[in-house]
Amino acid sequence: MSIHIKTPEEIEKIRVAGQLAAEVLQMIGEHVKSGVTTQEINDICHDYIVNTQNAIPAPLNYRGFPRSVCTSINHQVCHGIPGGRVLKDGDTVNIDITVIKDEFHGDTSKMFYVGKPTVKAQRLIDLTYEAMCTGINMVKPDVTLGDIGHAIQTFVEKNKCSVVREYCGHGIGKNFHEDPQVLHYGKPNSGDKLAPGMTFTIEPMVNAGKRHVRLLPDQWTVVTKDHSLSAQWEHTILVTEDGFEVLTRRPEEYWA
Ligand code: MF3
Ligand code: CO
Ligand code: CO
Repeated sequence: MSIHIKTPEEIEKIRVAGQLAAEVLQMIGEHVKSGVTTQEINDICHDYIVNTQNAIPAPLNYRGFPRSVCTSINHQVCHGIPGGRVLKDGDTVNIDITVIKDEFHGDTSKMFYVGKPTVKAQRLIDLTYEAMCTGINMVKPDVTLGDIGHAIQTFVEKNKCSVVREYCGHGIGKNFHEDPQVLHYGKPNSGDKLAPGMTFTIEPMVNAGKRHVRLLPDQWTVVTKDHSLSAQWEHTILVTEDGFEVLTRRPEEYWA
């Protein structure tokens, strides 16, 4: 296994796919409201990706996943399967979008809430966004993956929350998931060094309680063992000559 350095042509295709994925997250915001089912959210995203973007929703049939997006509510950590669950006031929901355009992938997720979040939920959501940014802001050539994981873990644990260990970020390109594995915990100065042209996701899953997770019998939905709230944000990142580019950036997001 080795980390594929992308050519400028490949990078442009990932950038295009990344922007499509980001646009799906912007489009779906107004639909995330009380009374809507996660199946309806899935169907709106599916229709938009297929018919408006002329792209492919990567999750559909990926290793048997039965829907086009992942929707993970409250104590669900990731890979929630859209279905009949009706969103209600106070729910938090991660929507994870992966689009394939011209054979290349863009992968990004965002936290939404229905109605007004509790103070605790808002705090977890904000802290998890900051954890992702802590990792993103470190990206530049010669930094190690261990440096990034360590910084994310340190930030999260300082805030009395925990990092899920069983799932991680990943290289991305022609493949949905490829080398390297981007752990959201680790030791400084360990693991592969970043180099220009690498593309990978940073997507920390942070629990308000303990880090342990359980897989539901549907074989996809991951939940916190202690039923504590969980949050996740995800971006697809390019390593540039002197730093990074967020390939799935939305207009409301800025990096110095
Ligand atoms: N989008 C998820 C990730 O960030 C993967 C979902 S796999 C699926 O890597 F099959 F559940 F869609
Ligand atoms: Co991902
Ligand atoms: Co994703």
